[in-house]
Amino acid sequence: MSAARRNVEIKAVDPDPARTLERALALGASDQGVIAQRDTYFAVPTGRLKLREQEPGGAELIAYERPDEVTVRVSAYRLVPVAHPGELRAALEAAAGIRVVVAKQRRLLLWRTVRIHLDDVEGLGPFVELEAVADAGSDLSGERGLVAHVRAALAIEDAALREGSYADAAIAAAPDPDLLALAREAAGRAYAPYSGFPVGAAVRTADGRRFAGANVENAAYPQGQCAEASALGAMVAGGGSDVAEVVVVSPGRELCAPCGGCRQRLREFMPADAPIHLADLERVRYTTTLRALLPLSLGPESLA
Ligand code: THU
Repeated sequence: MSAARRNVEIKAVDPDPARTLERALALGASDQGVIAQRDTYFAVPTGRLKLREQEPGGAELIAYERPDEVTVRVSAYRLVPVAHPGELRAALEAAAGIRVVVAKQRRLLLWRTVRIHLDDVEGLGPFVELEAVADAGSDLSGERGLVAHVRAALAIEDAALREGSYADAAIAAAPDPDLLALAREAAGRAYAPYSGFPVGAAVRTADGRRFAGANVENAAYPQGQCAEASALGAMVAGGGSDVAEVVVVSPGRELCAPCGGCRQRLREFMPADAPIHLADLERVRYTTTLRALLPLSLGPESLA
């Protein structure tokens, strides 16, 4: 395998890519043109593993571990050229599964050792990234200085900085608005006189149907049922079986994360990386996945 390399990098949303391009050219960066990139992220247990296919350009497998810091961060990664991307993708998909696919158009500019990426990411919009590849043994201060210089020239503001990868952002993308509305309506109809904690849940199936449920409590307390269980019951009764997205709404101040039992219930019907949005009546407060909520779990395929 190739030796590990290090990058110093930042990522930011870009409100005005044309302006950023002008500023980069004014700085003296050289325009290398636009590359279409498709990154397939595999569902590996630690770190990140993605197959990058680019046009023009070849394919490479990139393994990396990156701390998700908003400010300048350092990532260590390995790059392996790939001669047969289709075959590699199929092999890794069979062995590990695909987490998410991120497609983008990247305009690449170079200024000294800093790569400037003007990215238009499908489903996420325009971003700008700065990356300085570190020399072996460098204490990174030089690379940090170069990145800071380009950042100032491009006028990238603190509020625009983003942590995490495009893969995380793609998974956490805004929930289906109709699903959110359904979960909110269900929360409004919850029967929770004992806890005073109404919850609504809605699931969207892979074929695009939506089912909602609310928590239903009972004077015999243990007979109470969670909103997720109600929504899944409605889905099964409606003939659905594959959940692609979940919204759980609780109107209160407390974030309502699915209870342990409901994580297992969802596990029966949904893949590890489908989004689970936790919301209140105003906004989505947290987006997660079963991979995060229920690691090392038993599912229907274990018994098959
Ligand atoms: N509840 C849900 O409906 N979903 C969850 O994921 C957590 C808890 C309900 C159960 C009970 O009616 C109330 O919230 C307080 O626990």
